[in-house]
Amino acid sequence: MTGNRTFTMVKPSAFSQGYTGQMLAMIENAGFRIKAMKKTRLSEEQAGCFYEMHRGKPFYNDLVAFMSSGPIVSAVLEKENAVESFRTFIGATDPAKAEPGTIRKLFGKNMRENAIHGSDSDESAMRESGFFFAATDLF
Ligand code: CMP
Repeated sequence: MTGNRTFTMVKPSAFSQGYTGQMLAMIENAGFRIKAMKKTRLSEEQAGCFYEMHRGKPFYNDLVAFMSSGPIVSAVLEKENAVESFRTFIGATDPAKAEPGTIRKLFGKNMRENAIHGSDSDESAMRESGFFFAATDLF
């Protein structure tokens, strides 16, 4: 899965506020095809493992607590140049700095509760997809 797939999660705050449907509609309208998707909830241990690369950073503990605080929707998306294209589409990590019309600008509250996750590289997309889905789940 290099080049044309990325991984995303609707974060707990966006899910609990009922934004999932609107966000998914925007994602599909932008040409991303849903290859796999599920509603789930991360344990603290799972969230800590998912964000392992941020362990030790000042925001890590709060991020892990937040990401395990409620349901999420995780998905694998397909489009040409998926990782970069999706990151541009969702906007900057900080919603205050995100471009108008992006998901994070529309639905994000702050750096932590920024509505949605998007993989930062093809390698991350593969790892993150494998965290939630088996190869046979992707079709
Ligand atoms: P995400 O795309 O899920 O990847 C890592 C997450 O860490 C990021 O979105 C933010 O929610 C969070 N994050 C990154 N930097 C900070 C920060 N300086 N303060 C709080 N949260 C952060």
